[in-house]
Amino acid sequence: MNIQLIHGPNLNLLGVREPEVYGYDTLDDINASVVQEGEKLGVTVRAFQSNGEGALIDAIHEARTWADYIIINPGAYTHTSIALRDAIAGVEVPTIEVHLSNVHAREEFRHHSYLSPVTLGQVIGFGASGYIMALHGAVAKGKQS
Ligand code: DQA
Repeated sequence: MNIQLIHGPNLNLLGVREPEVYGYDTLDDINASVVQEGEKLGVTVRAFQSNGEGALIDAIHEARTWADYIIINPGAYTHTSIALRDAIAGVEVPTIEVHLSNVHAREEFRHHSYLSPVTLGQVIGFGASGYIMALHGAVAKGKQS
């Protein structure tokens, strides 16, 4: 099984960015732990981060050619981007949305996700372990085709 892990804007700053909200793990720490857990489970994980909406859309399109699942933390684009939603709907790669923080317990503008309706499911509020939970969720579901 192949999984494309995608991180959106500002997540390159993890570890230093509002650590009381997002934790002290860096993006490299998170990617390493997901790749390592994937190896244990026989899953190939590739990680990608961008601050740009277009690059994230390109990564979603690219996933179509090889990935069985996408795990994505779209950052603030969660709450703004119809383009990311359309990309996920368009590629038909089952997608799991992850948020480090519990967005529903935060500002109201974070309560709505344009992406959630076109995702397989969401893992919200578990910090860095949410990515591991999403990986396990994908493995439990198995290959879709
Ligand atoms: C986030 C939540 C978003 O509202 C925020 O804009 C982020 C991170 C999270 O992982 O909790 O950048 O996606």
